[in-house]
Amino acid sequence: MYPLGSLCVFWLLPVALMLEEDSPLDCVPRKSVPFYRDYTHTFSEKGVFNYTTMLLREDLDLLVLGARESIYALDLKNISKKLASVKWEVTQQQKMDCKNKGKSPEMECKNYIRILHKMKDNRMYVCGSNAFDPVCDYMSYADGKLTLEKKAEDGKGKCPFDPFQRYASIMVDNTLYSATSMNFLGSEPVLMRSSSSIIRTEFKSSWLNEPTFVSMAQMPESEKSEDGDDDKVYLFFSETAVECDCYNTLVVSRVARVCKGDLGGQRTLQKRWTSFLKARMDCPVLQSQLPYIIQDTYRWCDPHQSWKNCLFYAIFTPQSDTLQHSAVCAYRVSDISKVFAEGKYKTPVPVETSFVKWVMYSGDVPVPRPGACINNEARKAGITQTLDLPDRTLQFIKDKPLMDQAIQPVGQKPLLVRKGSTFTRIIVDQVQDANGKKHHVMFIGTEEGTVLKAVNYDGEMFIIGEIQLFQPPKAIKILKMSNVTGQLYAGSDDGAAQMPVATCERSSSCMDCVLARDPYCGWDKVAGRCVALSNSKRELIQSVTEGQASLCPAADPVRPMNQSIWPGGNLKLSCPTPSNLAQTSWEMDKGHQVPSAHLQLLQDGLLILNASDRHAGRYRCLSVERSKGVNYTTIVSEYEVRITATGSGKGLTLLPQAQSDGPSKIVLQVSVGLLVVSLLTLLAWNFHKGHLPLPWKCGQKSRGQSQGTREDVGASQRPGPAEDKPLVLGTGNRNNNHNRGEAAFSAAENDVPCVNLPSLQYIDDSEI
Ligand SMILES: *[C@@H]1O[C@H](CO)[C@@H](O)[C@H](O)[C@H]1NC(C)=O
Ligand SMILES: *[C@@H]1O[C@H](CO)[C@@H](O)[C@H](O)[C@H]1NC(C)=O
Ligand SMILES: *[C@@H]1O[C@H](CO)[C@@H](O)[C@H](O)[C@H]1NC(C)=O
Ligand SMILES: *[C@@H]1O[C@H](CO)[C@@H](O)[C@H](O)[C@H]1NC(C)=O
Ligand SMILES: *[C@@H]1O[C@H](CO)[C@@H](O)[C@H](O)[C@H]1NC(C)=O
Ligand SMILES: *[C@@H]1O[C@H](CO)[C@@H](O)[C@H](O)[C@H]1NC(C)=O
Repeated sequence: MYPLGSLCVFWLLPVALMLEEDSPLDCVPRKSVPFYRDYTHTFSEKGVFNYTTMLLREDLDLLVLGARESIYALDLKNISKKLASVKWEVTQQQKMDCKNKGKSPEMECKNYIRILHKMKDNRMYVCGSNAFDPVCDYMSYADGKLTLEKKAEDGKGKCPFDPFQRYASIMVDNTLYSATSMNFLGSEPVLMRSSSSIIRTEFKSSWLNEPTFVSMAQMPESEKSEDGDDDKVYLFFSETAVECDCYNTLVVSRVARVCKGDLGGQRTLQKRWTSFLKARMDCPVLQSQLPYIIQDTYRWCDPHQSWKNCLFYAIFTPQSDTLQHSAVCAYRVSDISKVFAEGKYKTPVPVETSFVKWVMYSGDVPVPRPGACINNEARKAGITQTLDLPDRTLQFIKDKPLMDQAIQPVGQKPLLVRKGSTFTRIIVDQVQDANGKKHHVMFIGTEEGTVLKAVNYDGEMFIIGEIQLFQPPKAIKILKMSNVTGQLYAGSDDGAAQMPVATCERSSSCMDCVLARDPYCGWDKVAGRCVALSNSKRELIQSVTEGQASLCPAADPVRPMNQSIWPGGNLKLSCPTPSNLAQTSWEMDKGHQVPSAHLQLLQDGLLILNASDRHAGRYRCLSVERSKGVNYTTIVSEYEVRITATGSGKGLTLLPQAQSDGPSKIVLQVSVGLLVVSLLTLLAWNFHKGHLPLPWKCGQKSRGQSQGTREDVGASQRPGPAEDKPLVLGTGNRNNNHNRGEAAFSAAENDVPCVNLPSLQYIDDSEI
């Protein structure tokens, strides 16, 4: 779309080149966790899609989830528990109207719930796209029921017409601020406030130029303000740059802001924002010529500190398809605020008849300052509301809402860069480590259905783990966190899922627990377990910034597993890599090199082919993990291999138990089915004979129901086998028992190449 070899000479280039060349362009997660079976709860309903709007109601212990034509109230502690639901479907007439306008009846002409906000009176404000005719309503939750009031308020400018279009909204003091398109065609983008008198942006390309709205946040800037400033609402979006001096269209990231007290102008900018200012946001990712595009933001504020210390964490993805990096940059609110309060403006100057160039404005700036909120200085001059602002100020802001200076991230560079995954959503949590130091842990949802848990330790990017939350992979479209439950909630087109922010108990050794560098977790020496800091009163071993595991007590010796194999047979010795940052190696009989003939090194084990006597002996798999320049060695597994003449050894055809679940489940289902059928036959016979007085119809209905339920159970189990089918050979070997991992290969040679599965990128970390 935007070829790299564009003629555009982009201003970002010098900045990017200034960065040190050695900063890593990629960061590998220490652990990759396939499906999180034991730790997640999921929710989805048959025939319902697009679970992409969420509202946490911690006051009611609810997660309110908006999907296509449905809204659910789920138990915040276990979202698999549906407490209530309400349907909000389009009428046949609306569907016809929408269809007649050329939209697809089964996809676009439906009601996509897009806005869910809490009102001061505990009700909720809900909007849906409603077959390209957006409407809003009020909803309450009482006596275990969700009820829509059917007020049918106009949703134009609040909620998008087009369910595929991005939008943003926020409820501030019971007033909705929204950023979306106002018309059917999607050609009239606005930032709008829906109070008694609607205030919105101008339809001018210098204000909003084909924008993609991303998110909104409010900032209580009037708090303890010395100059009597007002609270602000910030909007993040990307748009086609008007200021780019180039022939190709170029998209840039923006932050805009308005004042809460803005009432519009008297004559100029009547019912329009007088305080709409915007600036470019840079996230300089090394080697990128084109600016990266903002996708989501998270406002992080310390509740004990002033708003000036708040940060906006933002994720960026490349503009060009050829680059595959995603990045996180953080911005100080005070830096953004300063650019708007003191920075220079950009102004358009006609160069040729049809061409306009945007340059820094260096002329006189009218007073009061264009775009500023009403402050003490303005009040002194008799201007107490925006309606009193002079035309000169208003005309200036109408023509020049763009600031000259771009907003630079903290440290002038990204906090995280990851290759090969596309970031979609971000949440940030502050955690105090065992030394009392505070860290910001980033949870990042991806297009690939995973959640990354990452930290930046004094400039060092570190991804603690990548967790597959949706299986099969489905892009994470919304991500929320509750600091009450300590859970993350994610939504995708196919369902919602919840996972804990930390699962320390997954680390079974001190080495693994400490090298994880997870500020939530520490090793309890007394209990011999990896535990959450918040749940422990004992002193824990933890080393998040240094990543030092030398304080760990020596691990218990590993008991060797006995394996036997007949001459000429094949055997796999399993050794799952405990960490993506570790390297495994094998040694034999205490320091002897492993013979190379007829051995194949796998990513998660060792394969002995065509075994002979010299293959007998003690095999030990070592894992060496390098952390901050120090190598830490652990013994992952040990095997005593014997060559037996009889060939009755167990190293032959052991099926992993996970697979043998399948048949037994089927047997169970078949026998349940047979039981049901025989019961029904018995019942039918009874009805036939008149032994039972119930009408036949009723019996039929209950039979239909029972079958339906049985099918439902079958269907809801379907995700189960997806997990049972290991992503990795030997995924089934949880709980540190090697017996299931030793899945042996007695099969023909053509099995061998298959061992190098692409899925090997996922390791099961439960064994160390
Ligand atoms: C969560 O809720 C589901 C559905 O009610 C239930 O089957 C499951 O056991 C619950 N899990 C926990 C840990 O409570
Ligand atoms: C809704 O979900 C379906 C099924 O996954 C998907 O094909 C469709 O693109 C989604 N629609 C929107 C508007 O995201
Ligand atoms: C949770 O976060 C809210 C703000 O989002 C804050 O007011 C509250 O104190 C936090 N609670 C805990 C237990 O940290
Ligand atoms: C392996 O075999 C030896 C001797 O035959 C026995 O002492 C040991 O307990 C066995 N180990 C396991 C794990 O079964
Ligand atoms: C297996 O090894 C034996 C000797 O150890 C050799 O004679 C035979 O050809 C080998 N078979 C294969 C398939 O490599
Ligand atoms: C650590 O291990 C790596 C290879 O795994 C090796 O290259 C390096 O020299 C080792 N460093 C030390 C200090 O032993």
